[in-house]
Amino acid sequence: MDVLQNTNLEFLTGNSSLIQPIMQGITSLFLLGSIAFQTILGLPGASNVRREGHLLKRAVDDYIATEEPIALAQLLCNIGSSGCHASGASSGVVIASPSTAEPDYLYTWSRDAALVFKAIVDRFANSYDASLQTEIQNYIIAQAKLQTVSNPSGSLSDGTGLGEPKYNIDLTAFTGAWGRPQRDGPALRAIAMIGYSKWLVANGYTSTATGTVWPIIRNDLAYVAQYWNQTGFDLWEEVQGSSFFTVAAQHRALVEGSALATTLGTTLPAADAVAPQVLCFLQTFWSSSGGYALANINVNNGRTAKDANVILGSIHSFDPALGCDAATFQPCSDRALSSHKVIVDSFRSIYTINSGIAAGSAVAVGRYPEDTYYNGNPWYLNTLAAAEQLYDALYVWQSQGSITVTSTSLAFFKDLSSSVTAGTYASGSDTYTTLYNAVFSYADGFVNIVSQYAASNGSLAEQYDRNSGTPLSARDLTWSYASFLTAAARRAGVVPAGWAGTASKATSVPAVCAATSQVGTYSTATVSSFPASQTPGTTGSATTATFTKPTATTTTASCTTATAVAVTFNELKTTTFGQTVKIVGNVAALGSWDVTKAVALSASSYTSSNPLWTATITLPAGQAIEYKYIVVNTDGSVNWEADPNRSYTVSKTCATTAVKSDTWR
Ligand SMILES: *[C@@H]1O[C@H](CO)[C@@H](O)[C@H](O)[C@H]1NC(C)=O
Ligand SMILES: *[C@@H]1O[C@H](CO)[C@@H](O)[C@H](O)[C@H]1NC(C)=O
Ligand SMILES: *[C@@H]1O[C@H](CO)[C@@H](O)[C@H](O)[C@H]1NC(C)=O
Repeated sequence: MDVLQNTNLEFLTGNSSLIQPIMQGITSLFLLGSIAFQTILGLPGASNVRREGHLLKRAVDDYIATEEPIALAQLLCNIGSSGCHASGASSGVVIASPSTAEPDYLYTWSRDAALVFKAIVDRFANSYDASLQTEIQNYIIAQAKLQTVSNPSGSLSDGTGLGEPKYNIDLTAFTGAWGRPQRDGPALRAIAMIGYSKWLVANGYTSTATGTVWPIIRNDLAYVAQYWNQTGFDLWEEVQGSSFFTVAAQHRALVEGSALATTLGTTLPAADAVAPQVLCFLQTFWSSSGGYALANINVNNGRTAKDANVILGSIHSFDPALGCDAATFQPCSDRALSSHKVIVDSFRSIYTINSGIAAGSAVAVGRYPEDTYYNGNPWYLNTLAAAEQLYDALYVWQSQGSITVTSTSLAFFKDLSSSVTAGTYASGSDTYTTLYNAVFSYADGFVNIVSQYAASNGSLAEQYDRNSGTPLSARDLTWSYASFLTAAARRAGVVPAGWAGTASKATSVPAVCAATSQVGTYSTATVSSFPASQTPGTTGSATTATFTKPTATTTTASCTTATAVAVTFNELKTTTFGQTVKIVGNVAALGSWDVTKAVALSASSYTSSNPLWTATITLPAGQAIEYKYIVVNTDGSVNWEADPNRSYTVSKTCATTAVKSDTWR
């Protein structure tokens, strides 16, 4: 035991607060004795890496704690009609930014609004909030109206009008010259509305999903199935061609929409016919020689096609149940990680504020290296997306218990650990731990860059200056706030519900691509209001969409509803040696609020950067529980989490496992 004395560790690590996680890992080290111990602590430079990672983590923890409420409040400020910066905007309309000059962003973009509401819906599905529900309902009502507004792209009658990128904030058409159509808007809007529909179904409001939301979704999906194979403008509104981001969103929308159709007792044959072809087309963006997905094809504009477009496409296609699937460019896939490296590296040498920062350390991330808009600068939302992709990847690696390095992703990993070689590394191995911690620190680094260059009062503009880091261009960009909130959620282990349903169908690529198209039918969807009091849990399955892992999220006719569900409770809580995290709650399996009967969580996956305590407890399907986590100290005293009691309803679906991820409060 001598060798494990705190003084030795302090000497070795130079920071006494680092001892706790090391001590918690020590049970296994005991068995191996001092050789293993020295191997871990004796790596040249390892203690420095660990110390820097620790300080970085604390800085990012603090920044997120401060910025998150600001980001949410500012995001809501930009939504009409009552948002504090959205005067003049109709109900449910997201303004891109309150900036009215240089640049004038006081319009509503279909893409920005959909991404903002996708973030809101995911947040809402994870934790019910009546005021967010009102915002979501207002958004859906506004979109039903917008679909009918004829505009320079066309009208609803043949679907063409749905490709219009931006509107006036009073829901009238914007008739000035613009890069139109933009074909990601309908797909992203469908995804946001599908997310809310899935919540409605899970909570017993299928008729609202069917009668109110589905007719709007159906128009957008008809548009995707009809027009996906025509060029349009990319998400930056500059390139007319085929955009990776757009095609990835289209694929997801068709697959997720078809699964929702099945749930609602209907079918979407056009989506089923086209989706595999969209996925087939998506493969052609991959440049194996370059090691990255090309942002735009079917265009010849002289650019390298290295573009954060691809990082955004990957994070918005994230489905935790798809693992590291490369066909859908999942965040942890080798293709997406290699793209991440190539894209991030493209900004290292061109921005003054990135100079001197080594490969493998985070830098400011812009749109694409050739960018000249406002002189070409880093954007907050792209820097946060670079972080979010890595947090997504970490979640999947942790869920699957391993990290795979392939020849394609090797260069990405080598920047973080120069000696790594291709292979699969199981959790618990040194290589897994090294890579996991390095990726976590790398991800945190991007958030730290944002914190460094954001306005000190928490406002997030669109860009920050490539030379000075000063905020630039549109102030209080709604999309910047949404990207902060989603990156912060992923870092806390909160992941969105999956979209792929039966994974094999969503990821199998046809051998030969075909340029198919299905002419759609479009009809006016009129919504004036939503039924009142659609609160959670009518059927006893409140927030199940999130954290329900690998099994399909949609119920198929043949599956058997589970009677019991093995729920894995994950709690992030930094503890000191000797402390134990336990869970206690209002049912016998959770000790009936008796702390002496509380269930202990395991620290076997605990690391300093991810202080995870976990326990899997089998509970009856559909059971609603209340619970809290407690910390039991060596002397038996107990620290309780802050109020309120947590509540959770065990899913009642075919899934026999579920995950509930929490962070100590
Ligand atoms: C249409 O699909 C075919 C087959 O994947 C592809 O070769 C072509 O580039 C696509 N064109 C557009 C504009 O999407
Ligand atoms: C930060 O300050 C700017 C400039 O005064 C202001 O426009 C913005 O609303 C402020 N943001 C917050 C979150 O208070
Ligand atoms: C949590 O639940 C316990 C047991 O039912 C109850 O005594 C306590 O008041 C609850 N706490 C809050 C904040 O509702």
